[in-house]
Amino acid sequence: MIFLIPFFRSDPQIVKKLAKDSLIMTASSKILKDWVSHNPRLAVVLNRFNPVPVSLASTEAFLSEIMRVFEDPTTFHPEELQKFPLPVILDYLYRTHQYYLSQRLPEIEQSADALIADCGEKYPILSLLVPFLAHYRRHLESHIRQEEASLFPYLSFLYLSEEYGEAYAKAVAGSPAPIALYATHDEHDHQLASGLKHWRQVIEQQHPALLAEWPCQVLFHQLDALSTDIALHERLEEEVLIPLGRALAG
Ligand SMILES: [Fe+2]
Ligand SMILES: [Fe+2]
Repeated sequence: MIFLIPFFRSDPQIVKKLAKDSLIMTASSKILKDWVSHNPRLAVVLNRFNPVPVSLASTEAFLSEIMRVFEDPTTFHPEELQKFPLPVILDYLYRTHQYYLSQRLPEIEQSADALIADCGEKYPILSLLVPFLAHYRRHLESHIRQEEASLFPYLSFLYLSEEYGEAYAKAVAGSPAPIALYATHDEHDHQLASGLKHWRQVIEQQHPALLAEWPCQVLFHQLDALSTDIALHERLEEEVLIPLGRALAG
């Protein structure tokens, strides 16, 4: 049950309404496949959707699983999450990348500016926050660019080849270079978590009063939340996405 959708809104009401139309979605998928099989030039229409067609009903179920894990990280069961179609997982990961860069990091940068404006004179150490965050942004952007340029397109290609045949996969996803799918994705170095730990230690030891300042609490709260979010994202990539890719690669 697959339907082509660009970036579905995560509003549960919209998802529910659209999921009701699943029969239409099934039909649409076949029609879309037939269109492209009949005329490969029409793949240009599909190419603007990223990454590949996703099922709304599966997306809703997947998001429900993710929300459960957000509430209680001990309920992260890779084998359960691996049952979802790969495009649904990829779609979530793509959106999450965008969310980190366009929303979470800017919020954190803004909070750091507010903290420096309020407390920078009294605590000169805070001036080091700016280069730390700038370095982390560059690191995250580069990691995301790399995944979206090689790992994700290759996995999309493998999935489409398996589901619809290689000719269709090439028409829709091009011919991405094969990459080694290691059991663990060794690109994840947990820089934010370790940087955050370091910052907390330094402030606790040298400037404990700073931790009581409201702008400092806001910033650490946001950094903790992003760190937890990223840890889940990395587990999804390492323990769900890569194993699915390895199974598809054979
Ligand atoms: Fe990622
Ligand atoms: Fe990653």
